[in-house]
Amino acid sequence: MKVLGIETSCDETGIALYCTERGLLGQALHSQIAMHERYGGVVPELASRDHIRRVLPLTRQVLEQAGIDASAIDAIAYTEGPGLAGALLVGAGIGTSMAFALGLPAIGIHHLEGHLLSPLLSADPPAFPFVALLVSGGHTQLMQVAGIGRYGLLGDTLDDAAGEAFDKSAQLLGLGYPGGPAISRLAAGGTPGRHRLPRPMLQSDDLDFSFSGLKTAVLTAVRRGVPDEQSRADLAAEVEAAIVGVLVAKSLRALRETGHERLVVAGGVSANRRLREQLGAASARERLRVHFPEPALCSDNGAMIAFAGALRLQAGATPTAGVGAAIDGFRVRPRWPMEELAPVV
Ligand code: KG4
Ligand code: ZN
Repeated sequence: MKVLGIETSCDETGIALYCTERGLLGQALHSQIAMHERYGGVVPELASRDHIRRVLPLTRQVLEQAGIDASAIDAIAYTEGPGLAGALLVGAGIGTSMAFALGLPAIGIHHLEGHLLSPLLSADPPAFPFVALLVSGGHTQLMQVAGIGRYGLLGDTLDDAAGEAFDKSAQLLGLGYPGGPAISRLAAGGTPGRHRLPRPMLQSDDLDFSFSGLKTAVLTAVRRGVPDEQSRADLAAEVEAAIVGVLVAKSLRALRETGHERLVVAGGVSANRRLREQLGAASARERLRVHFPEPALCSDNGAMIAFAGALRLQAGATPTAGVGAAIDGFRVRPRWPMEELAPVV
């Protein structure tokens, strides 16, 4: 089965073609970072307009790369939510229209399920069950994963997401958007511990997170004075160490509490080098395996949506739009708790 995946939930237009027999046949991505950078964050209306311009040319590019005609596609998967309503409507609208035009089923995918399943696209995929740490710009969640669609929430952030903490700290340090990679780059030349930042909720007796206090502490540190480039690098290193320290500690706690031996990390922040190193070190120390997505699949992309769509359709899920769907149209879900997903396997 060949599934075309369309991701337009935020500031990346991602298109990919996944084949259940041959794997990824083609993928293309357009990042809007340069367009939003001057505003210090994503401008929703600009995002939607840009997605409209990109979806079809990128789809043509992917089909060319794969060397197949649109008539060879078996199904279309698009991101149904969560995300920016206008941006989601572009992918869902174009995906559904293509499905009607080509006489195909279309399936709406939960963006975080896409992230969560993306490590299964790697050469050494994790087996179920496992604990997943989902860390993106909008989410920081620990989930217990028994199978596709069988997700139990173990812990969540009470305020800011981990990616948001990186982004806001970066802004306070005068770095660009997105903040995660910028902090990480600056942190490489710094030493954590020279500035002291709190590790929020590190000692709390649960699996929840809180990062808004960190932002306030960074603001205080910046006001107190970051006299030179070395001091800025030291503060960036401490920000990274604080966020990563809490993520690692809570992930290990989740593994201990559930008795699972596998941890899957996904979402934009899973690209972070310090997080990968520290979890790698923990897995060498303790009896556990840590799985990350391929670096190119950490941030938003079409491959994870095509892949999740293929798994769901293969398992007999009902299409949400196009041929075989219960409704004669489509919908998007800008807010969509992951626990509401229907189990598949
Ligand atoms: O998953 P994603 O691409 O989009 C959302 O669904 O939110 O995640 C974007 C987030 C941003 O907050 C960005 O700063 C963060 O991931 N990020 C990183 C790194 N690369 C991206 N954070 C820390 N280190 C990185 N290397
Ligand atoms: Zn994402």
